[in-house]
Amino acid sequence: MGSVIVVAGPASVHLSRRVASALGLEAVEVQHRFFPDGESYLRLECDVSGKTAVLFQGTHPPQDVHALQLLMLSRTLRERGASEVIAVVPYLAYARQDREFLRGEVVSLRQLLGLMADSGVGTLVTVNPHSPWALEREDMRSVAVDVTAEVARGAARFHGRFDLVASPGKKGERMARAAGEAIGAQWTSLTSSRDPVTGRVEVIVPEARVEGRRVLLIDDIVSTGGTMVEAVRALRSLGASEVVVACVHGLFVGDAARRIVESGASAVHSTDTVTSEHSRISVAGALTEALRPMTA
Ligand code: R5P
Repeated sequence: MGSVIVVAGPASVHLSRRVASALGLEAVEVQHRFFPDGESYLRLECDVSGKTAVLFQGTHPPQDVHALQLLMLSRTLRERGASEVIAVVPYLAYARQDREFLRGEVVSLRQLLGLMADSGVGTLVTVNPHSPWALEREDMRSVAVDVTAEVARGAARFHGRFDLVASPGKKGERMARAAGEAIGAQWTSLTSSRDPVTGRVEVIVPEARVEGRRVLLIDDIVSTGGTMVEAVRALRSLGASEVVVACVHGLFVGDAARRIVESGASAVHSTDTVTSEHSRISVAGALTEALRPMTA
């Protein structure tokens, strides 16, 4: 492989610096500002000709701005002669619209991935996408980095031993098991469903001993917080002595984190795929290890 350059997109400067330094690679920043009308101004002064460009650019809110910056940067890198673009997108926007739930809906994830491939992204590296299977396509390779174990270990570092790990939704069983195994706790998945029209969430705790136990409640995304609020309430009403909430991607729309605490959680933690006051667990190590073989 020729030389490798890390390009720090405006959405992911902090993570790109940490990972580049761990990999011993040069990291260049993209000059960025907004025009008075809100359009992005981007300037890339480095020479990328013949190099593999590892472009860091998350697509967390404002999703559309960050996604368009990602597409424009990737195209520019290819136009300037980069031999390959590896896009590191710690939080992948639109990942939950991975199919047509209601007739006529745009499958936004598929469209976004298509735009990335068309913009010259050869490999997409992302963290805990909602449905890893939905990333598979012929025109772009995808690598889904799973940080469930890191999140569980991070929560245990702050709070000590948990008796039970619980996780809601379809991927709840996989996440709860991975987290439980990582910290030596029992695990259970919670049934959750969301009305596609009203958005109302219902959470059911299955046959699991909850009373008097310290529970780590883990999920891939906290967006409005509706799922976690219902899950915390259900676990507390069954007698859990403590519920700590941890997620990979903490979007915390509006006052989501406060509502989760008010529903009975003692703490809320997330990773730095989306930075907030709750980002106490870093994905830098996991991204470094995922990128090492691609950049060696
Ligand atoms: C759903 O399948 C996801 O794993 C999350 O549970 C969900 O997206 C969280 O959204 P909200 O915080 O809005 O309930």
